[in-house]
Amino acid sequence: MYSGNQLREMFLKYFEAKGHRILPSASLIPKDDPTLLLTVAGMVPFKPYFQRRVEPPFPRATTAQKCVRTPDLEEVGKTARHHTFFEMLGNFSFGDYFKENAIPWAWEYVTEVLKLPVEKLWVTIHPEDEEARQIWLDKAGVKPERIAIDESNFWAAGPTGPCGPCSEIYVDLGENRGCGRPECAVGCECDRFLEIWNLVFMQYNRDEAGNLTPLPKQNIDTGMGLERIASVMQGVESNFDTDLFRPIIDKVADLAGIRYKDDPKSDMALKVVADHSRAVSFMLSDGIRPDNEGRGYVLRRILRRAVRFARLIGIEKPFLEQVFLVIQRDYAHHYPELKENENFILNHLRLEEKNFQATLEQGTQILQERIRALQAEGKTVLSGRDAFYLYETYGFPVELTEEILNEQNLKVDLQDFERAAEEHRRLAREQSRQRRAVQESPIVTERAKRLGMTPFLGYERASTEATVEALFLGGEEIMDAGEGDEVICFLSQTPFYAESGGQTADRGVLETARAEAEVLEVKKGVTGTIYHTLRIKRGVLHRGEKVTAAVDAGARAATARHHSATHLLQAALRGVLGDHVRQSGSLVTPERLRFDFTHFSALTPAQLTLVEEKVNEAVLANLTVSSVEMRLADAKASGATALFGEKYGEVVRVVRMGDFSRELCGGTHVRATGEVGLVKILAESGIGAGLRRIEAVAGLNSLAYVRGLESQAQELAQILKTPASEVARRVEGLLGQIKDLDREVQQLQVKVARGEASDLLAKMQDVEGVGVLAVQVQAPDMEGLRQISDLLRDKLKQGVIILSAVAEGKVNWVAAVKPVGLRGLHAGQIIKEVAKITDGGGGGRPDMAQAGGKDPGKVSEALGQVPQIIRSFLS
Ligand code: ALA
Repeated sequence: MYSGNQLREMFLKYFEAKGHRILPSASLIPKDDPTLLLTVAGMVPFKPYFQRRVEPPFPRATTAQKCVRTPDLEEVGKTARHHTFFEMLGNFSFGDYFKENAIPWAWEYVTEVLKLPVEKLWVTIHPEDEEARQIWLDKAGVKPERIAIDESNFWAAGPTGPCGPCSEIYVDLGENRGCGRPECAVGCECDRFLEIWNLVFMQYNRDEAGNLTPLPKQNIDTGMGLERIASVMQGVESNFDTDLFRPIIDKVADLAGIRYKDDPKSDMALKVVADHSRAVSFMLSDGIRPDNEGRGYVLRRILRRAVRFARLIGIEKPFLEQVFLVIQRDYAHHYPELKENENFILNHLRLEEKNFQATLEQGTQILQERIRALQAEGKTVLSGRDAFYLYETYGFPVELTEEILNEQNLKVDLQDFERAAEEHRRLAREQSRQRRAVQESPIVTERAKRLGMTPFLGYERASTEATVEALFLGGEEIMDAGEGDEVICFLSQTPFYAESGGQTADRGVLETARAEAEVLEVKKGVTGTIYHTLRIKRGVLHRGEKVTAAVDAGARAATARHHSATHLLQAALRGVLGDHVRQSGSLVTPERLRFDFTHFSALTPAQLTLVEEKVNEAVLANLTVSSVEMRLADAKASGATALFGEKYGEVVRVVRMGDFSRELCGGTHVRATGEVGLVKILAESGIGAGLRRIEAVAGLNSLAYVRGLESQAQELAQILKTPASEVARRVEGLLGQIKDLDREVQQLQVKVARGEASDLLAKMQDVEGVGVLAVQVQAPDMEGLRQISDLLRDKLKQGVIILSAVAEGKVNWVAAVKPVGLRGLHAGQIIKEVAKITDGGGGGRPDMAQAGGKDPGKVSEALGQVPQIIRSFLS
């Protein structure tokens, strides 16, 4: 009887002998193939060759390919032959041979290598494939009555891509495996006729519209499921009874404390768990991670299904790891990724299993409450909305909800569940569509173009009257916006600063007598039009209406302080470090500032202090801040700092702070530097080659920072029960005390050891007349160990002492021989041999030696070897 492993090998070898190159299985993640989530057939990795997108490097190949298919997920365990993960044996021709070889080789392999009896075999062909029929008849010698026509004999890996008519080989497993209906024949859904091999004549490419166009060349793609052929060759009744599955099933049964084939219901669960564990192991081994979408979701679903079915047979603790180890043992020789990625696989199995079990528990509780409520109301159907809530919030699969309800003769309204799911998907789509449409809509852009630049009044004032020029919802222009609407609004003029030059946008409100809208975002379009994103909080906002547009003055002032502080910082940095300092980015918010600049090394503490002082001196000088608009060339000539690489318009704004700073800037600033308040640098760091970053706070935020420090100091003072000014001295004192205590503890340890010394001497053993003491003791370090050894040596008249102690993960060794030269023994030589066993070395004098070792796990072994080592030196 052939094992699964042998059958895999035989197939590959047969086609190797026919000029095919044996290739390892490709990953379950299809490479560069957006049309497929997972590798579903042996041909998937070869699509580019069939389509001649890539010139095939060889004309023929043969593989055993890992595949995952999930459309029949629910069938797994119910039938003899459905799997999620399976191995597909195949031979492939890339524009080389076609039907004339593929057919006779397949027949030869089945009848002469596998030696399946001809009278049990059947063949199907595509209704229009006369050519294939002739080859089966003439070249393979199949009897005409054994060739059946099957309308469905056309195969493709997905909606688009290479495809073609196919021809299949079936084995008749005997009447007793069949459904018994008189019309039962090849193609019947029952278990009697088993398809073992599909030969696909790849000759078309299918496009999105479903049109078939001939491929540049005719190709062959075949597929024989390894599990199926193994079930036939091993004469067992299902794929799960082959040697590819039995060890996995037995392991699961073992964990459940049941026996396979005792009870059909638990057999089904065993099969599901075995199949799914195998799928999950292989998917992880290819680097797929559990996720909420894509193939990660497929993996998650299969894994969760395995856990659920395991529960049905009483496995409630994590078990996947143990099943994986069996799969790894049986498959890693052919699929080494199961070994190479062991850690990745185990980590994800453990985590995902644990999380899902927690989910199950939470969800089950909630469901039980709902069930009680239903029963109390005398109802029998759980609403789809409730089931969807369990799914959405707890990842609780609806099938599981159904199962649990079934146990109590209750049901889920599945149609309602679908509606809830569809509604949820629609909302999600709608939201993301709206968000995009807000920015992209040509209607908005067109209107912005007509309106042109929005006059910005924010330099002079924080609030102004304005007219609502336009409102947009979801990319469409609207007349009125109601409560809760999120809209884009164009105004005739605005005090709102649009995010730019590192300064964040203003926040604030638009108000009319009856409506109020919150300004969430302010951006400037390419046309200079300012886009206000609003949420209507109250009432209705109308197009053409007059509004009061008011910036949040507190936030605006805080932002201005940080912006002005940034200018002072730049000037101070140039003063201290040199003119090479250039701004390379900045962020100015109401809470803080961040300033990135060019400089080649970290600032010294002294430089940093100096910069901070210069900035604060400029603040205290209360320099007047002024701004003028001028032509770019004039601005540069006046020595204003411009941002390198930044694009400026013809006319620019220059912000001046006395003679201290002059920068091109469109931002909002304080009127005089005194308004900035204390500027405190929080951090200086490197962010790339030649780039530094300073973070700082100004104004009230500096006050908050100082208060934070103060309360920390107070807390420390309270804990240490000392005035804040004394904290440092107090901590110093405490550290000293700890050191003294440590020393005391060590001395006590040695004292204790000393007390134990006499007990130890009782453990002396006799080695050919020499007294030998080889023991492990407690000692904090080598010094302590030596002290114990000295002590023992004093008490001993003659003999050998070997002591070992483990400290901080390392092994210390001491050896003593008394008197020196006893029977020619040498402490240094002995300890060298002993320490070697613990992965270490050392040596020393004939009477006294020490050594170290790296492997504490080997200490007892080393101590056990001492008599033998001494014996070897005695002879
Ligand atoms: N690609 C073909 C199949 O999977 C052989 O059936």
